[in-house]
Amino acid sequence: MKIAIFPGDGIGPEVTAQARRVLERLDLPRLVLFEGDVGGIAYRRHGHPLPAETLEMARASDAVLFGAVGDPSCDDLPRAMRPEQAILGLRAELGLFANLRPATLFDGLEELSTLRPEIARQIDMLIVRELNGDVYFGDKGIRTLENGDREGWDMMSYSTGEVRRIAELAFRAAQGRRGKVTSVDKANVLETSQVWRDTVIEVAASFPDVTLDHMYVDNAAMQLVRNPGAFDVVVTGNLFGDILSDQASVCVGSIGLLASASLGERQTEFGTFGLYEPIHGSAPDIAGKGWANPMAAILSVAMLLRHSLGREADASRVEAAVAKALADGVRGRDIGGSAGCTEIGDAVIERL
Ligand code: NAD
Ligand code: IPM
Ligand code: MN
Repeated sequence: MKIAIFPGDGIGPEVTAQARRVLERLDLPRLVLFEGDVGGIAYRRHGHPLPAETLEMARASDAVLFGAVGDPSCDDLPRAMRPEQAILGLRAELGLFANLRPATLFDGLEELSTLRPEIARQIDMLIVRELNGDVYFGDKGIRTLENGDREGWDMMSYSTGEVRRIAELAFRAAQGRRGKVTSVDKANVLETSQVWRDTVIEVAASFPDVTLDHMYVDNAAMQLVRNPGAFDVVVTGNLFGDILSDQASVCVGSIGLLASASLGERQTEFGTFGLYEPIHGSAPDIAGKGWANPMAAILSVAMLLRHSLGREADASRVEAAVAKALADGVRGRDIGGSAGCTEIGDAVIERL
């Protein structure tokens, strides 16, 4: 079981170190770990945010555990050299089109949600975010107009094929949950969303056991804080999914708690190849202080065990250890406590 670990920038290495400890502590047979450079650190060491050897390492692995990329000192570099291109490049090059971002309230965190406890308690949703298309990967540029103004553009598009594969995955996920899909778009304004909506409706015909509803993204943002318990599976495009998942994270406590899996079609000896990462970024405001909450990274290890290694029992064991730590009052600074990154790692490992 070959796992490539890409810690990246800022708090990426801090949270990934704790996630790695958890993975090693499970004593999996035949586990081999490699580390590679991505992001700003890779740019400084190798002149590129996603060096060829890192990409090769990812391709040769059964799964990738990713920390975070992003470094304010790189914000003036040409876009192709910025740290964020590492994660965008991996998602595109590895064909990871489906990003699963579960948001469920852990017992005891009701009081820490930004929502009222009785509303927060009901949250158990899975955001299925399309990851290879949309405005992220369309034609883009900046030009100077005749009047001297600069103009930037980013083309948004989705094809039926791109929508079909993510919709099918969302419907299958709903079959294993509460049987409900909410498709989020902006079909009242965008042609991209019209194709999205028409295609989701077509796909729904093959899943008569799943109920489908549609919601405009502005309403979805509102419903997410009004009545989040009504959502089961949310399927949406790359940009809307990015925004709604950060919002969902504070509804269950903190962005330091939300894990993700990015999956494609490639099957390995053990499961589906995937990349696993917390949904948060490199958090330059707290990097180096030892304050980052590693639970999102640790929960990403659980998703890796489940989807890429076929180790459901180990995945549940990791999730239970995190849940127990939270129930016992282990709290990072992001959720009103004082436990540091290593301390939280220790607390989870103790409970494994
Ligand atoms: P961010 O997620 O890094 O941080 C947002 C806020 O949440 C900050 O106040 C931060 O301190 C806090 N936070 C995030 N993770 C935390 C954790 N584990 N524990 C405690 N607090 C945590 O988002 P940002 O500030 O908008 O972006 C910073 C950089 O990260 C940018 O360069 C951005 O492009 C990049 N980014 C990368 C990824 C990724 O690698 N997948 C994801 C998001 C943002
Ligand atoms: C995320 C991040 C990335 C995204 C950035 C860093 C490219 O915000 O993983 O959620 O927008 O997908
Ligand atoms: Mn994001």
